[in-house]
Amino acid sequence: MDRQVEELINAAREVRALAYAPYSKFPVGAAIRMKDGQIIQGVNVENVSFGATNCAERSALYSSIAQGYAPKSTVAIAICGDTDSYLPPCSICRQVLVELCDLDTPVYLTRADGEILELTIADLVPYAFDSMEI
Ligand code: THU
Repeated sequence: MDRQVEELINAAREVRALAYAPYSKFPVGAAIRMKDGQIIQGVNVENVSFGATNCAERSALYSSIAQGYAPKSTVAIAICGDTDSYLPPCSICRQVLVELCDLDTPVYLTRADGEILELTIADLVPYAFDSMEI
């Protein structure tokens, strides 16, 4: 595997330990690589009012904005849980990915056994709603 991809997946796997998931007990870690090479990590942060929960992917993406990165500055995304199947982003996160990343950005889904599936945002969101000019 490409060294940079491996580093990104490890960053997602490691930050998972910091997730705040007392309700689901389903910690998730995400890591995004920016155009300048920096990695930004995110975890899911749950709430007793379940709808206020933020997923790991959105935590990382929103953090990139707060750190001053412009939208479309992400070059790769990795997501890690502890699942037998490849852990995909939820549909709310997919829409946020469409807003903040290019559609051809690689997304690395992982399984607990270490297997990796590389997709793009376009694969995850066919017919994306990304503009009101239609
Ligand atoms: N979750 C994520 O953080 N990312 C995903 O890709 C799927 C789901 C979180 C949301 C919630 O805290 C928990 O996992 C169970 O749905």
